[in-house]
Amino acid sequence: APLSVSLLLAAYAIGSLSGSLLFGRLRGVDIREQGSGNAGGTNAFRTQGLRFALVVVVFDIGKGALATWLALSFAPVGADLSVTVHGYLAAFAAVLGHVWPIWHGFRGGKGAATLVGGLMVLWPFAVPLLVLVWAVVLIVSGYVGLATVIAALCLPVLAWLGDAGLPRQWFAIAAALLVVFTHRGNLARLRAGTESRFAGARLLHR
Ligand code: G3P
Repeated sequence: APLSVSLLLAAYAIGSLSGSLLFGRLRGVDIREQGSGNAGGTNAFRTQGLRFALVVVVFDIGKGALATWLALSFAPVGADLSVTVHGYLAAFAAVLGHVWPIWHGFRGGKGAATLVGGLMVLWPFAVPLLVLVWAVVLIVSGYVGLATVIAALCLPVLAWLGDAGLPRQWFAIAAALLVVFTHRGNLARLRAGTESRFAGARLLHR
């Protein structure tokens, strides 16, 4: 049990390393004070441009994958919880770290990239499907937040369609609920008609 707890704490600590805030420090900006105020890839792109955003997204995906991989690799075999459950719990802990980062005053991002990193290790088949849904909703609607929420809501549907085991089903539901929660501001702005459209999409949606 102590090892399991350490692995989950490590996952939370790794998830708490925010790409946008760490790389932002290098150029003296805190993107929580700009754009949507979110410490994530979308707002990194909105306020700092493509190159910075790519580095941020790769970092945030990478930390989700690393935290999950560490838990799978070092999970005590034969413990109360299976190795697989360790993986899912660690992925979720990393996302919680990204959203409420201990290294950044508990004000982080919305968890999408970190979640994708965890899924790459635990459920790689789901990733291209989610990215496809995300891209289609983004292109059709022009809203990144909406695309992320709808893609996340596909997770429980995929788990159900794929007749997934319980750990994956619970993870899918918990991750979808967390993403809806972290996007509550985006959803409120969508209803109010004040959510900002993604840069390129503005051309399509005049
Ligand atoms: O995952 C973040 C994205 O879906 C929305 O970001 O900055 O538009 O709130 P933002």
